[in-house]
Amino acid sequence: MKPNMSLEENLEALKANAALPEELSEATPPQLYSSQAIMDLEIEKIMNKEWHCVGREDAFEEPGTYRTTTIGRDSVIVLRDRDGVLRALSNVCRHRMAQLLEGEGCLKSRITCPYHAWSYGLDGQLKAATFMRDNFDISSCRLPQFSVEVWFGWVYVNLDPEAEPLAPRLAGLTERYESYKVSTYRSLFTAEEVWNTNWKILVQNFMDLYHLFWVHAETVEHALPTRLAEALPGGEGYAVSEQLRVEGSSFEYDQAMEVMNSDIDERLKSVVPLIAIFPTQVISISPERTFWLSLQPLAVDKVKVFWGVDVYPGSWPEGEEGEHRKQQLRESFDRINNEDKGIIAGIARNAAALHAEPGRMSPKEASIIDIQRYLARMLCD
Ligand SMILES: [Fe+2]
Repeated sequence: MKPNMSLEENLEALKANAALPEELSEATPPQLYSSQAIMDLEIEKIMNKEWHCVGREDAFEEPGTYRTTTIGRDSVIVLRDRDGVLRALSNVCRHRMAQLLEGEGCLKSRITCPYHAWSYGLDGQLKAATFMRDNFDISSCRLPQFSVEVWFGWVYVNLDPEAEPLAPRLAGLTERYESYKVSTYRSLFTAEEVWNTNWKILVQNFMDLYHLFWVHAETVEHALPTRLAEALPGGEGYAVSEQLRVEGSSFEYDQAMEVMNSDIDERLKSVVPLIAIFPTQVISISPERTFWLSLQPLAVDKVKVFWGVDVYPGSWPEGEEGEHRKQQLRESFDRINNEDKGIIAGIARNAAALHAEPGRMSPKEASIIDIQRYLARMLCD
């Protein structure tokens, strides 16, 4: 590998990497992580075309509740309209392109632009614009609306009006894991952070079972040992692996949580699936909680991480005990995230090195092959 490869050379390297048979699989060519041209192509061919998780549906229960996010280069508002419909709208005013809303909140009335007070209904229709000529028909002006889909309680948005629906791509996961009833899990907390790495390095790290025994030796390994974890065959829209829980052992709490999620398949009681929903979401599911991250690339070496934990309603204790468990969960995941952050920031820095070369991979990293093949399918045609 050499620095300053052209985009074409980079795509050739990705294609060759994705074509390797599993037993000869290698890590991702480093320039895929460091090249601005690759990032530009990812925005065009991946971020602008694919489904992105924007949070949990139960965060949008109250009519008027909204949250803003960015997909590719587009600022987007996700909101619950007063007619009950969950919508995704462009967050860019149709007048002079000012940003309409920031952060999150609950709209008491319309969406009003902070620049010249153009105001829109929650369905995106322009309702009022003052000091305009008579020849301007406000009824002809509305905010672009994007497709929304809900899967397992997560809300996904796609900027591409031609996009295929998400659920059929995830059918293999739905069938395997639907008895968890993840759509009934309730948000416990969410957080937003910026990590110094390439977004693909983070996705691959989450799906990498190999590093657990070493990087997470003090946290995860005793409860979910690397030797019992296995990468499974992925699907068109996802990669998946399963960790096996050591009974009575927990990395989340000082005492293991009793599993109250009684409807689940017997097998799943001791399994923790790790899932990458391509391109930008990663998830861990257990019978009593989820842990998920949704990524928004900011630069080749910077990614915004929106993450959260949801809990199965029947297993979560009330009052002080519940608060105590919540704090333990938060601290556990902060600790695990911190164990990864430095390592994956280092990979992002090294990706531009003259002597960076991808090496052979272990079967414990096999989900990374699915991610590399997905990238090749999306970027190389
Ligand atoms: Fe990790």
